[in-house]
Amino acid sequence: MKISSLQHTFQENRPNSASFFEQAKHSMTGGVNGNLRYFAPFPIIFEKAKNATLIDVDGHPYVDYLLSYGALMLGHAHPDILKAVERVWSEQGTSSFGATHPLELEMAEELITLFPSFDQIRFTNSGLEATLFSLRLAMAATGRTHVAKFEGHYHGAHDHVLQSVNPEAHAAGASEEPMAVPDSLGSPDYYRQHSVILPFNDWNACERILTDRAQEIAAVIMEPMLSGYIAADPQFMKNLRELTTQLGIILIFDEVKTGFRIEVGGAQTYYGVEPDLTALGKVVGGGFPIGIVGGKQSVMELASPLRSNKKTEVVFHSGTFNGNPLSIAAGLATIRYLKQPGRFDQIVQHTHELRSGIDALAKQYELPLQTIGIGTIFNVLTTEKTVQHYRDLGANHNQLRLALDYLLMENGVYSKPLNRFSLSAAHGPDEIKATLDAFEKSMAALKKDPLV
Ligand SMILES: Cc1ncc(COP(=O)(O)O)c(C=O)c1O
Repeated sequence: MKISSLQHTFQENRPNSASFFEQAKHSMTGGVNGNLRYFAPFPIIFEKAKNATLIDVDGHPYVDYLLSYGALMLGHAHPDILKAVERVWSEQGTSSFGATHPLELEMAEELITLFPSFDQIRFTNSGLEATLFSLRLAMAATGRTHVAKFEGHYHGAHDHVLQSVNPEAHAAGASEEPMAVPDSLGSPDYYRQHSVILPFNDWNACERILTDRAQEIAAVIMEPMLSGYIAADPQFMKNLRELTTQLGIILIFDEVKTGFRIEVGGAQTYYGVEPDLTALGKVVGGGFPIGIVGGKQSVMELASPLRSNKKTEVVFHSGTFNGNPLSIAAGLATIRYLKQPGRFDQIVQHTHELRSGIDALAKQYELPLQTIGIGTIFNVLTTEKTVQHYRDLGANHNQLRLALDYLLMENGVYSKPLNRFSLSAAHGPDEIKATLDAFEKSMAALKKDPLV
């Protein structure tokens, strides 16, 4: 089979998505509100959702594994979230105070209990804003100007971290000395020059680079699991914590993906390693926009207006919708659901069952596929090699994964081509069975008519 014939079938079966996209691309740039949302020949246009199911404008249902990029930990419109949001309208009477209100404190205290490294928090509206604010705090705390980040790690759409997220191999330098490569047109060269790129899970190289450049590095920012599914080696995390402390570098965990998906208390609980600052987002907003920065009082206090009335002595942070009650109420409902005994573990268990099923089918159909991940997120890689480093992903047979994704969509499963899979409380035995049936049909088709 050929990718082009799979795309042809995709197109034939979705006339309404096709014509909607044709119209949308005239009034919305590229027809999408985020470049990652596009895939060829056109992205599916969705009309409705319920529990773990998405329904497109052609009436096709899909088991949803995108889950709004992992944000919807309880699925679509969980009753606990509906109730919490309705209560905000009926009891508080507004979607935004633009001022401090009691729910903010409830969430702050909840997070301080759950995340071992939090003394204080601040709300933002997105993960992007959380990583941006955490870097500003780190620069203020250290007086240094450079940001060290790992090759392949994503921290949102702002200049300082849109470096070497997905660099072209020919431009990225040696694996033990990666070079900064901007991921966007229009990113001032200043940010490339002030970025230090580290190789994930390569301790010797990281130790050398950080030690050599310590005087200029304000922060190391990292996803504890690259892209949400490639785990850092536990010793690597411990070493990184020790060395950054020794060199006076602020360690930032970007737990926007991992926050409530690896463990309820995040990857930092899983590893037993405390960063200085943490960025949260996605799940913690219960399906509404949110970001959070939490961390050590000594660093967080740099943003306190109580410190000084001189602008030059306080880190500026603001946002019209920061701490809005809808996001917080939905987030609190999600956290309270996940904290009930057995609830989080059950989502992990379902994830495990799905992964074991996919791995067994890959063996049965003799396809070079493996699942990889921890907790409630995983990815399906198209290589049998062990993957620990960003550049190991180069071994993936991307066209095979793409073919699988088109077939899965025809069989009612959606993660968005080449994307990770996230599960939710709404993914029960029926959804797992339907998904494994779809994988079986798709793999059987690939076995019978291999990709050329
Ligand atoms: C690890 C990580 N950090 C930051 C972000 C940015 O979050 P947002 O899309 O809410 O701005 C994302 C989003 O996918 C992410 O996965």
